[in-house]
Amino acid sequence: MNPRCEDWLRGKLERLQGSESYNAEKTNKEIADKYGLAVTDIVKLNYNENLYIPREKIIPLLKEVAEEVDFRIYPQNEEALLKEKIGEYLQVPQDSVTVGNSSDEVMERVIRIFLKKGDAAVTFTPTFSVFKYCVLYEEAEYVQVPLCDDFNIDMEAMHSAFTSNARLLYLCSPNNPTSNQLKPREIEALIEEFPGIVLVDEAYGEYADYSVVPLIKKYENLIVLRTFSKAFSLAGLRLGYALANPTLAKALDKTPAPYPVNAVSLSMGRKMLENIGLMRESVTALKLERGKLISRLNEIKGVEAFDSKANFVLFNTAKPYAGVYEAALSRGLVIKRLGKLVRYENCLRTTVGLPEMNAKLLKTLSEYMED
Ligand SMILES: Cc1ncc(COP(=O)(O)O)c(C=O)c1O
Repeated sequence: MNPRCEDWLRGKLERLQGSESYNAEKTNKEIADKYGLAVTDIVKLNYNENLYIPREKIIPLLKEVAEEVDFRIYPQNEEALLKEKIGEYLQVPQDSVTVGNSSDEVMERVIRIFLKKGDAAVTFTPTFSVFKYCVLYEEAEYVQVPLCDDFNIDMEAMHSAFTSNARLLYLCSPNNPTSNQLKPREIEALIEEFPGIVLVDEAYGEYADYSVVPLIKKYENLIVLRTFSKAFSLAGLRLGYALANPTLAKALDKTPAPYPVNAVSLSMGRKMLENIGLMRESVTALKLERGKLISRLNEIKGVEAFDSKANFVLFNTAKPYAGVYEAALSRGLVIKRLGKLVRYENCLRTTVGLPEMNAKLLKTLSEYMED
């Protein structure tokens, strides 16, 4: 290799390898092998996926898509049809919709378009970590303002972070991992005052009390992120979207490489919207189970579970969180370890699983905490 190329390539690779990125959990098979369990024993409650729509109800829709889509050729009008359905679903014009290969990918696109080296991206902490990784990847400045102890925004501190180089504000609502929804008045005040683009992540919007989507008609600097990974149970298909005023949406749509999303995922998104009862029923069932899970967690000695507006529950334990995590994992239960969040020292997060999954978690926690 040319020595000049060698130096340049080494530098590039070192920078990439050194950059922080999302650390994916081990696969179910790896966990099962480590603890001498069967893969079928693994109960995965760490990624806020939604098992409330049974596979048997999704597979026939996928079969219909397989009949309808000719995936030997590039996507045709699948994206336009999906945009039309999303528009109807959320009561927005279809030219306000941008679709992407997951909401993470749309987020990355927003960051690439609106942030350059030297610009700052502002958010609160704790929040969804992928935003931070994408900002740092672009070599922009990442500014985080701690949340208050009740998980609400410290509005004064937030305003002080609105410096002249602040170009992007990320507000996750309902917030992962705190599971609360931000106050609508505060979100609106921040949109009005922020000197750049405000990105509101509503990945868990279907489980929440309200949405800021209608505000895209009022504010030209607002982008709302949504996904098919959570309430619509399509995490593996990687389909997300953003809503914004048409001028902004058009800019987001302008990807240099064509066809960012495959025809099968686009069509499956449309099918899920055409069969919206599946999502609605699953959200109702999950919310019912969420309430039960929170009360039962709170009955366990040394566990404090917080209210949730999402499909997961955050809880704090009197025992060190690493031990709780390990005790669950060794029984095949994969939850998310978080550690100290605001004034709570030992936080963990669990997806609201199917009732039998939650029962297994509750039993494990009771045994471990009361031991
Ligand atoms: C707040 C938030 N946004 C986005 C995502 C990822 O969504 P997607 O699967 O569309 O990339 C997650 C996943 O956990 C999330 O918690």
